[in-house]
Amino acid sequence: MSSQDIPEENLPAAQDTGHGALDVADEKNPFADPGVPPHEPRIQDIDERAAKRSERAVALLFTVSMLATIGFIAAFVTIPVHKTVYIFPLGHIGALNFALGVTLGVALFCIGAGAVHWGRTLMSDHELVQERHPIEAPADVRAQVFEDFRQGAKESQLGRRKLIRNTMFGAMAMVPLSGVVLLRDLGPLPEDKLRHTLWRKGKLIVNMNTNEPLRPSDVAVGSLTFAKPEGLEEHDHGFQNEIAKAALMLVRIEPEDIKDKRELEWSHEGIVAYSKICTHVGCPISLYEQQTHHVLCPCHQSTFDLADGARVIFGPAGHPLPQLRIGVNDEGYLEALGDFEEPVGPAFWERG
Ligand code: FES
Repeated sequence: MSSQDIPEENLPAAQDTGHGALDVADEKNPFADPGVPPHEPRIQDIDERAAKRSERAVALLFTVSMLATIGFIAAFVTIPVHKTVYIFPLGHIGALNFALGVTLGVALFCIGAGAVHWGRTLMSDHELVQERHPIEAPADVRAQVFEDFRQGAKESQLGRRKLIRNTMFGAMAMVPLSGVVLLRDLGPLPEDKLRHTLWRKGKLIVNMNTNEPLRPSDVAVGSLTFAKPEGLEEHDHGFQNEIAKAALMLVRIEPEDIKDKRELEWSHEGIVAYSKICTHVGCPISLYEQQTHHVLCPCHQSTFDLADGARVIFGPAGHPLPQLRIGVNDEGYLEALGDFEEPVGPAFWERG
């Protein structure tokens, strides 16, 4: 609504802004500046004895601060490092640290409290108004700046000496390249190391806890089974690197509950195998909800639906968990039918 729509009698009256200027409601500014409220004197402003009391209180706080600092130095010099003291409810703690902490805390607190009390009771509390000036420079100053710039460009002969100008721009463009080269110091590129894991066609799937190859009957409905590739032992060199990529979890789901067609094809009798590494920032997933077939990453609560291609249904993860295609060998053991077809973990740079 413009000010023209406001009946004149409803416009606020002209008011004294409290800093000498009269702010008048008009068409451009329908609301007059109410100004600062009138100054209310404090008790210390009108009663010298109250002001003296405040002065003594401030001086007392500063004095306590000085004493605490002396106490700090004395504690540092006199208390042995290994001495302990019983403080309820903390129990036995180092006496020196306790004394230093308390004395330093008191010294700083008293300085702060003294300054605040001084400011609130004795320093002037008149409100001041400072007008804000326009930020834009006046037209003549701007014109002068442009003129100076033109003059500088002319005197430097930037337009005339094209060879100098072009090589200067080239040099300035090249300098940032040295920073780009330094990026090499961030370490070797991962190349395709993150694309492949130890899983291969025919690799047996081994229970992570028992080290025994798994049969389909070992994976019960409702349980989450953690597994690793056969031949990967904890004492192996590089075990941590490999298990961080190859860690697997197996779940048995009623085949009719599996919604994703590819997931069903890659499973065996409803047993599905997924990477245990969260696609957010790589935490190991560990919580399984039997009724919904959801797995939850404990780090930031990303939740994946294992009955629907491990689709992300909640949380910050950006991609489903990679699935491992599995089958059963002639001896009845679960085996991988290849490697993961996509990078495991937070491989955000490789996916669309
Ligand atoms: S690492 Fe799994 S949700 Fe963040």
